[in-house]
Amino acid sequence: MQYHSNFSLKKYNTFGIDAKAEKFVSVTNLEELRSVLKENSDVFILGGGSNILLTGNIKKTVIHLNLKGISAKQTTKNSVEVTAAAGENWHEFVLWCIHQNFGGIENLSLIPGNIGTCPIQNIGAYGCEVKDTIVCVQALNIETLEIQMFSNSDCKFGYRNSIFKNEVKDKYIITEVTFKLTQKEHNINTSYGAIKAELNNHKSPSLKEVSNAVITIRNKKLPDPKKIGNSGSFFKNPVVSVDLFKSIQKRHTEIPSYPVSETLVKIPAGWLIEKSGFKGLRFGEAGIHNEQALVLVNYGNATGEEIYEVAKKIQNKIRKEFDIALEIEVNII
Ligand code: EPU
Repeated sequence: MQYHSNFSLKKYNTFGIDAKAEKFVSVTNLEELRSVLKENSDVFILGGGSNILLTGNIKKTVIHLNLKGISAKQTTKNSVEVTAAAGENWHEFVLWCIHQNFGGIENLSLIPGNIGTCPIQNIGAYGCEVKDTIVCVQALNIETLEIQMFSNSDCKFGYRNSIFKNEVKDKYIITEVTFKLTQKEHNINTSYGAIKAELNNHKSPSLKEVSNAVITIRNKKLPDPKKIGNSGSFFKNPVVSVDLFKSIQKRHTEIPSYPVSETLVKIPAGWLIEKSGFKGLRFGEAGIHNEQALVLVNYGNATGEEIYEVAKKIQNKIRKEFDIALEIEVNII
């Protein structure tokens, strides 16, 4: 375990922002993590760096969670519990599960990030959310250095939300996540239109076929962070009152929407951003992706502030045009 000072985080955040950590250390096991926490009071925990926008240097000790390991245990005839360490890459984990014929997370293929961050924002795509497979989350209390288990209900999962974004934010470090997956009979979910189309209405696709369909769809619409820096969806899809929705619908009959309750409707932020004329626009090195307006991109040398400025421009225009406050999904640091 080695400390580095004035360390560039460019390779450690998918936006590719060249911010620096005052001190940086990568830990590979719990003992190392505990000893770093004992030695340093002001720390910043870095996982896969896929959901952060660094708007300046971090004047703290950045702890890179490089905890690895996966284990599986059969629980019933058709189900298996798989435990993965926080530093495992999410997509590689999905592929590993598919290879073992473990089902339940294939729709979440190619989502950037690590195991340790997937519960924080309850990652979701194509009709699935990770909360539906999580049994429990193991986390280290930063104050007491003790391990605590959070059951699925303790996590208080919601749309892109959990206890780790609220009550216990910055109090715990997620070290391991346990998932309950199917082993033989899988509940394949191809309800999402784009998957159905990609699979040509194939009646009983395999886990691999579903995963490949998701990968194809995502590659068409979403920029590859290895080529163009980005953090996936930058904003949450806003939930608005049916009244506000109807007044917008009068002007824009084609507006897509998903019912949430009798009084609330979810509107795709990507649609609002596109309607406001931002899709594909570029402001210097920062911009809005031309295939999916929900994704802000770094064309190479943008600073975090520049990307944040673009986000604020979008928020202001949408507030003016639609009377909707767009909420940022990515963590602004
Ligand atoms: N749309 C537009 N213009 C755009 C983008 C989208 O009009 O530029 C419209 C589409 O035509 C469609 C609707 O918005 O009618 C929804 O678009 P899409 O199916 O692409 O999904 P999304 O709501 O934009 C959400 C997640 C994605 C996830 C997809 C697929 C959020 C914030 N985002 O996006 O998650 O992959 O559904 O399930 O909920 C991520 O979090 O990084 C992410 C990519």
